[in-house]
Amino acid sequence: MRMNIWDKLPKPFLILAPMEGVTDIVFRQVIAKAGRPDLFFTEFTNVSSYASEKGRDNALERLKISPTDQPIIAQIWGKDPEHFSICTAALENLGFAGVDLNFGCPDKNVNRTGGGAAMIKTPELAIECFRNAKKSTNLPISIKTRLGWSKPEEYHDWLSILLAEHPAALTVHLRTKKEMSKVPAHYELIPEIIKLRDQISPETKLIISGDIKNSAHALELHQKYPEIDGFMIGRGVFANPYCFTNHTPTRKELMNLLKLHLDLYEKYQFSSFEPLKHFFKIYINNFPGAADIRAKLMETHSVAEARKIVKNL
Ligand SMILES: Cc1cc2nc3c(=O)[nH]c(=O)nc-3n(C[C@H](O)[C@H](O)[C@H](O)COP(=O)(O)O)c2cc1C
Repeated sequence: MRMNIWDKLPKPFLILAPMEGVTDIVFRQVIAKAGRPDLFFTEFTNVSSYASEKGRDNALERLKISPTDQPIIAQIWGKDPEHFSICTAALENLGFAGVDLNFGCPDKNVNRTGGGAAMIKTPELAIECFRNAKKSTNLPISIKTRLGWSKPEEYHDWLSILLAEHPAALTVHLRTKKEMSKVPAHYELIPEIIKLRDQISPETKLIISGDIKNSAHALELHQKYPEIDGFMIGRGVFANPYCFTNHTPTRKELMNLLKLHLDLYEKYQFSSFEPLKHFFKIYINNFPGAADIRAKLMETHSVAEARKIVKNL
């Protein structure tokens, strides 16, 4: 029996968008503390890494989850159908509620290997990967993609191909690969995309991604387009980590979140301290002197040093 988390979610549901280098096991716990979404996604993990002896430990490290992450979907990417089978088969026992296939990442290094958004150019391969994943698990298989490779109009043919496979859910980042994140999301295409979903695979949950700021914004979009099942918030968490609750945090609340982030970062013993610096702006922002404090934090080399600065604030 296929267990389906997607049928248990409220309508509309909110998801923390997968963001490589951001939504790791630490940051997901920070967001859960601030105000949780209905569903989490992991960052994307390469199926060929998982399938190789050399890469497996690293892949498993990326797939680590904590109890507060539940329910959580594992996102995977690659271009080798066999490796999709091998990786997907392992995910159920790792505690995931579903598996999402990334057919939308625009990163050059990812696309060069044929993965991510490059799948838009090889639809037959994309479908083979999807079918292999589906055959390998009882978990529901979903897809996250973009409108197309270079032109928004490509959405019609590309999304039709995907919907014909009846994925449990389809997330559409409303931009093409070429547009990266440089133009506003194409909300004007939402009605057409809803029509496609309703015609081809009415049971597929339809999720929209792109420029959604917070839960109030998602509800506004839901009133306009009640057929959309869920909304993903990505960069909105940088502007407000409480964006899933619409709460405007006090400075003290943000400082406490930063302390939690530091504690968890230490707990999970990440090998490099540098990536942590990308997060400081989320917490230390929009108050007099924030830029100076951030500058000091950027010069630190360890959690202990950063904690000393934060402690005095
Ligand atoms: C830093 C960063 C990393 C991302 N990594 C992933 C990823 O691993 N998988 C994925 O499907 N999308 C990834 N995305 C795309 C987001 O999930 C989302 O679709 C996109 O940012 C648009 O939504 P937003 O305007 O709410 O940020 C990433 C985006 C950013 C900004």
